[in-house]
Amino acid sequence: MNILILGSGGREHALAWAVKQNPKCDTLYAAPGNAGMAAHATCVALNPENSADVLSFVRENDISFVIVGPEAPLAIGVADDLRDAGVLTFGPSKAAARLEASKSFTKEICDAANAPTAAYGHFHDAESAKAYVREQGAPIVVKADGLAAGKGVIVAMDLETALSAIDDMFSGTFGGAGAEVVIEEFMEGEEASYFILCDGKNVLPVGTAQDHKRVGEGDTGPNTGGMGAYSPAPVLTDDIAERALDEIVRPTVAEMERRGTPYQGVLYAGLMIKDGQPRLVEYNVRFGDPECQVLMMRLGAQALDLMLATAEGRLDTAKVNWADDHAMTVVMAANGYPGSYGKGDVIRGLETLADDSFHKCFHAGTKADGDNTLANGGRVLNITARGETLKEAQERAYSELDKVDWEGGFYRHDIGWRAL
Ligand code: AMP
Ligand code: GLY
Repeated sequence: MNILILGSGGREHALAWAVKQNPKCDTLYAAPGNAGMAAHATCVALNPENSADVLSFVRENDISFVIVGPEAPLAIGVADDLRDAGVLTFGPSKAAARLEASKSFTKEICDAANAPTAAYGHFHDAESAKAYVREQGAPIVVKADGLAAGKGVIVAMDLETALSAIDDMFSGTFGGAGAEVVIEEFMEGEEASYFILCDGKNVLPVGTAQDHKRVGEGDTGPNTGGMGAYSPAPVLTDDIAERALDEIVRPTVAEMERRGTPYQGVLYAGLMIKDGQPRLVEYNVRFGDPECQVLMMRLGAQALDLMLATAEGRLDTAKVNWADDHAMTVVMAANGYPGSYGKGDVIRGLETLADDSFHKCFHAGTKADGDNTLANGGRVLNITARGETLKEAQERAYSELDKVDWEGGFYRHDIGWRAL
């Protein structure tokens, strides 16, 4: 079958690499893709958020399966448009994507599903939000309700920070995303991510991961989209994972079905774990980036079969074949990221990197220029490795990093430190 992947980051490169290994995949297309994805897929200049263009391309190229990578097309209903036109699609409907696109919606679903999460209030104006914050005290968490590219969450350790975050949100710092605000109890514990395929009714876990969100060593400095990740997450033991499935994920999927908006795709549950109890921090309606890179490294070609089973409603009979392995990815970012950074540096040495089932360099933000690969984003490369232990995966990833010749880039030297 011909397959189309929508998106252009490291997540989509990892998906393309895994999908292309599966003999069921004939021609693979990526829209818009990146320089690294071009090794596995034909990259096409299509906007993934333009359903009409995507649909014409699907028809003209005899595509039988579309995998939607990022949240933005899902939140505006691209998966609905494709399915309405009879195209088999991996990814939730616009209504189900509200689990990521609206934090107050997720809290409402947790209430209905009786899923453990932080206590909260939902506000439409600054005065009542501030009154609630004064009543609750700090630490407290202030969240813009809508999609804010991962920047709409302020964990306020004191009252002043919380109050000014509320002013910022209602004065439009996050655009429309901040027109409503959710204020949450501050949860302590260790965070981990749990990835579960859902076909509307059945669920199938496909791995756990932990990422490093802060830009600096020792998890310091500003938040980023993620500077590295590893899988599995040791803190999400089998018992705790089972508990998260029973108490949080299954009740959520049942509630979405009950409302007539079944969830189909991958559900990414961000969990806070304390004393053996998982609580929901947030849902995302897509694979994490860079968490997807470590999941794909471990799943390989079966990822396509699992995504097909998800889209076709067959997860009740699907299963994952686990190798008892570990994977790690280290992000190389452009100097200045997550602030402003330059583009266009030539990255050398990529041809010297190992490229096999233990080592893979996924491209996150690159552009081809003749024979050269240029940096073309904040997060640029994801040096990824697999091993029998996390330590082995880490050693493999870091020894590959030494081969990349790019003065304009940097990476964290301590990915995995909590687990190791
Ligand atoms: P989110 O975008 O909801 O994942 O929030 C970003 C980060 O803020 C999370 O990964 C947590 O580290 C932190 N966070 C969000 N909500 C809470 C909470 N209720 N308690 C403590 N930390 C939180
Ligand atoms: N790495 C965090 C995310 O994908 O949201």
